Amino acid sequence: MEVIEILREASKRIYKNVKDLAGTEKAAGDFGRGAGGDISRNIDIVAEKTVLDYLKEINFECIVLGEECGRVELLDNPKGYIIMDAIDGSVNAVRGVPFFCSSLAFATENKLSSITDAVITNLVNGEMYWASKNKGSFFNEEKIKVHNKDPIYKIVGINISGASTSLMKRLHPIFENHNHTRHFGANALEMALFARGLMDVFIDFRDKIRIQDIAAGYLIVKEAGGLLLDADLNPLDADLSYDTRVSFIAAANQKILDEIISQIN
Ligand code: IPD
Ligand code: CA
Repeated sequence: MEVIEILREASKRIYKNVKDLAGTEKAAGDFGRGAGGDISRNIDIVAEKTVLDYLKEINFECIVLGEECGRVELLDNPKGYIIMDAIDGSVNAVRGVPFFCSSLAFATENKLSSITDAVITNLVNGEMYWASKNKGSFFNEEKIKVHNKDPIYKIVGINISGASTSLMKRLHPIFENHNHTRHFGANALEMALFARGLMDVFIDFRDKIRIQDIAAGYLIVKEAGGLLLDADLNPLDADLSYDTRVSFIAAANQKILDEIISQIN
């Protein structure tokens, strides 16, 4: 079975197991702090367990790097890493805000740039975004590309959750300069919407986002033709470590990247 099929099947199973749980009292059950540092909620645990059970069922030899469960070695000859954020947008999922997803990626080495396969599934409706290296990005069965024309409405996604005063001051021109700004609360799904051409730029400059939250989005954005840069405007890359926190900007093309960067620097 190809790795992409394994990730797709795992995320279908997550959807099946959590779709009726979101927004319920049961979803919120507190399991203490997970490996990523946040409180693990019951819905996070149910979703992670779904993936771990499936990988064990098919004897997939890998190291799982889960946001809640931490590093789990499955069998002795790992073929690579599964980077798992079984629920991205946990706050939305617990409260019942219909914007959260699962994010699963496979990497052959300990680096974002070695990701070969990725799946983000919208857990509200089961829609799936997926990519394999050098094979393009897909939304369900349809190939997707970032929006490369001049948009009718320019949409700039910006994650400002918990942003510092100085960052808000720096970003302020973006809000002022007739951009339509959006912030939905699940980075992975926002990267997927960007890859599908529904936003022109997506920015997270808070230095807070974890590898698990962006691993699948990384490949889906790149395979859809998006530019993906770090805060110094170098190509985004990072170690697959629990200590890593990144800032990044995804842009549909150089022109819109230059335009946004000229507003904030
Ligand atoms: C969160 C989401 C959210 C971002 C947070 C992340 P989680 O992931 O991606 O958009 O603002 O920084 O922690 O905790 O729901 O997996
Ligand atoms: Ca999560």
